[in-house]
Amino acid sequence: MFIRDSLIMSPKKITRKVSKPTREKKTVEQKPKPVKKTARLPQLVRGMKDILPNSEPYWEFVYNKVAGLAKDFNYGRIEVPILEETNLFVRSVGRDTDIIEKEMYTFEDRGGDTVSMRPEATAGVVRAYINHGMLNLPQPVKLWYWGPMFRYDRPQSGRYRQFFQFGFEALGDEGAIVDAQLIIIAHDFFKEIGLPVTIQINSLGTPESCQVFKVELVAYYRSRRGQLCDDCKKRLNKNPLRLLDCKEAQCREIRNEAPQIVDWLDEDSKNHFMKVLEYLDEVEVPYVLNPFLVRGLDYYTRTVFEIWPEGDDEEARQNSLGGGGRYDLLTELLGGRPTPAGGFAVGIERIVNAMKAKEVTLPPVKKPKIFLAQLGEAARTRALSIFEEFRAADIPVAEAFSKDSLKAQLEIADSLGVKFTLVLGQKEVLDGTVLIRDMEAGIQEIVDQRKIIKEVKKKLDQGEVGFNNK
Ligand code: HAM
Repeated sequence: MFIRDSLIMSPKKITRKVSKPTREKKTVEQKPKPVKKTARLPQLVRGMKDILPNSEPYWEFVYNKVAGLAKDFNYGRIEVPILEETNLFVRSVGRDTDIIEKEMYTFEDRGGDTVSMRPEATAGVVRAYINHGMLNLPQPVKLWYWGPMFRYDRPQSGRYRQFFQFGFEALGDEGAIVDAQLIIIAHDFFKEIGLPVTIQINSLGTPESCQVFKVELVAYYRSRRGQLCDDCKKRLNKNPLRLLDCKEAQCREIRNEAPQIVDWLDEDSKNHFMKVLEYLDEVEVPYVLNPFLVRGLDYYTRTVFEIWPEGDDEEARQNSLGGGGRYDLLTELLGGRPTPAGGFAVGIERIVNAMKAKEVTLPPVKKPKIFLAQLGEAARTRALSIFEEFRAADIPVAEAFSKDSLKAQLEIADSLGVKFTLVLGQKEVLDGTVLIRDMEAGIQEIVDQRKIIKEVKKKLDQGEVGFNNK
């Protein structure tokens, strides 16, 4: 009591208590004032998101689909760190991109190194490919990942500052078949989770052919400079390809007549692109040729693609579910041997949001068929070890060990729709038995605790047969 009171008292009061005993008495006699709740409740950092258990079935469903595809297409899982040297991202994603200019979480660590939280994972995967000498493995090296990325984006629906991506990267092969297979994986994924999408596809050619195109593009836009938005005026000098990406109505109008990159492709890139499309046609993967698709990261060469939700163009583009393409020069740019490569990544929050909006049906969750109820402290203690025995036998069991009342536990068992409830009371603990209650038939049976697993297994097997025969 004394300790509690002294904690409530401010240090000021305690000082006065010592120096002025007369006032001390008054203070002690006073009823302790209720502690004012002045502390601000902890808040989520803007742009961050909790993923709560009620969303978990979606996340698990998506994860299982991705892992299944990775297995089928022979991709090995890779985990690269969240923190990398800032320079890795600057060199790969590109100094003049929005990601590097405005969106990276960058700081100096305690050792004085400048590090960044990854805004994407391709750069880290390429770094790992170089660091671990993966070019000595049979090529292409196929890797997939799943994890959080960080971008200081403007938070809004489907746009967060921490978001999850899964991605597939194939390094060490320049064949169009790699690009086609990546797109097929993306297509199969969306088909399997029941989300209708369109695959937007384009080719950026080589840096040389792209450079010639950029000159043409800048000349075209410069002649219309007065009608451009302020951002596009800057893009003219800094990052002209992004002129094609502007969402302002007046710029989009100008874009309609702009030169198209496919007309400026070098011969090899054109043939490569045609081959990719041919493969996609062969497996009837639908795509939309989009001459304005340029992507927001600088490392791309040749094929680029995005996966858009169905619907109005601009809205769909803003809510792009995934994107990728070839990055044939990135490994060399980062100091490795020349290694043609390609990949894509998909934003998981956006997929889960889209699945919820579309009310995609998830496969039914397997629920336990057994509930373990207990009555009294000795039974609760014994129930803990019976629960462990069931776990070891790989039989899922539901429980509500924190409840005292048997009625409350049976209600829970009922709401879970279990087939059997095992009841353990004081008497059963002493006798070394358990009561098995068939919830449908209402029949109860007493079983030796040592035989409980065997008995339950037998009953469940009989139940399955009965069910299958119906
Ligand atoms: P990205 O287009 O920047 O590509 O991102 C891929 C996907 O991540 C987007 O389509 C979107 O679904 C999701 N995403 C991006 N930013 C956010 C955000 N702020 N909030 C929620 N979701 C977001 C890349 O990251 C490349 N590394 C893809 C790649 C892999 N290219 C080759 N290999």
